[in-house]
Amino acid sequence: MTDVQPGYDAMAAEYARVLPDPFQTPLERGAVDAFAAHVRAADLGPTIVDVGCGTGHIAAHLTTAGFSVTAVDPSAGMLDQARLAYRDLSFTRDDASLGSVDLGAAAGVIARYSLIHVAPEQVRETLRDWAARLRSGSVVLLAGQSTDESGTAPFDHAVAPAWRWHPDEVVRALSDAGFAELWRTVSRPSDGYGRFPEFHVCARR
Ligand SMILES: C[S@@+](CC[C@H](N)C(=O)[O-])C[C@H]1O[C@@H](n2cnc3c(N)ncnc32)[C@H](O)[C@@H]1O
Repeated sequence: MTDVQPGYDAMAAEYARVLPDPFQTPLERGAVDAFAAHVRAADLGPTIVDVGCGTGHIAAHLTTAGFSVTAVDPSAGMLDQARLAYRDLSFTRDDASLGSVDLGAAAGVIARYSLIHVAPEQVRETLRDWAARLRSGSVVLLAGQSTDESGTAPFDHAVAPAWRWHPDEVVRALSDAGFAELWRTVSRPSDGYGRFPEFHVCARR
């Protein structure tokens, strides 16, 4: 597992207070629900892995939608908040390498605003590893801050080192790993929400 997340550990309570809702925009909700519909249609069972689950609200949303969610995060502080808020759910300390997870049993993997904290070359490696372990037909949803410039770029995230990705670069990394794009969205900062554009990319193994 990567080093603990000192930034997230220190900010976890504040993070939970400032961002109590799972979705900041209707598009975010729509993207997660569209991903969930693809996972259901894949007919590979009920298991979704939530990578970098943070305070647990997406795991809770997907559980309410009928999935069995394996939720992992490297930050003990974020996991404390998740366990406080969702006492019936189970949360595990792990990072995007998913060493504790049987990915072969998963029908979907969701990583919202968590792979942004993994260096781009390591993200490419991680996606290759996920592709090797996932079954054909399983579905992934990645979301993060986007850039209109090609490639990737580090940015001054308030909590931890982070990178923005051009959506084409996300799709290229997925495709090189063995995933085929299903769809993508790009949202623009609006209504005071977000400093940067944000992408969601959904792809099938
Ligand atoms: C901005 S929060 C997003 C939380 C949640 N996914 C959501 O959509 O609300 C980013 C989360 O990514 C986690 N994270 C940081 N580095 C990670 C890594 N290497 N692998 C997995 N998660 C990581 C952090 O601990 C934090 O909980």
